[in-house]
Amino acid sequence: MGMRVLFVCLGNICRSPSAEGVVRVKAGLRGVNLDLDSAGTGAYHVGEPPYGPMQSAAIARGYDLSGLRARQVVRADFARFDLIVAMDAANFAHLEGMRPEGGAEVRLFTDYAPGCGTDEVPDPYYTRDFDGTLDLIERCAEGLLDSLSR
Ligand code: 4NP
Repeated sequence: MGMRVLFVCLGNICRSPSAEGVVRVKAGLRGVNLDLDSAGTGAYHVGEPPYGPMQSAAIARGYDLSGLRARQVVRADFARFDLIVAMDAANFAHLEGMRPEGGAEVRLFTDYAPGCGTDEVPDPYYTRDFDGTLDLIERCAEGLLDSLSR
């Protein structure tokens, strides 16, 4: 079993499934064995596939998100995963608020892309900038994989 990494956003239909899909492809290219999943702090979209426009932008770059389904993060995730990666400060605060003692470390995805110019992944559900989101996610993904290889 590889290192277990959970990506978390609000709805689990845009940013975190994209992060999961991008890191899966890039880890495969590097031959790095990881166990990946994603979840949302909110329950609005539980059971749904990633948002259509997000899937379209992702598949255009070779990331197939069609098999993913939204779920809500649960306290047990802190034991099931080694690392939990939040997309923005609100997700981070939510995770720290539910975190049991001794559970997985929580980090911001943008921590892995120093100099990227932002301290969170903006939500494309509201910005509508799906390609800009993927540009940032790809950069953070490379940094995360660099840090896990060290
Ligand atoms: P995500 O985007 O957190 O990147 O999946 C969102 C999608 C939908 C909603 C919120 C965030 N929503 O409240 O419906």
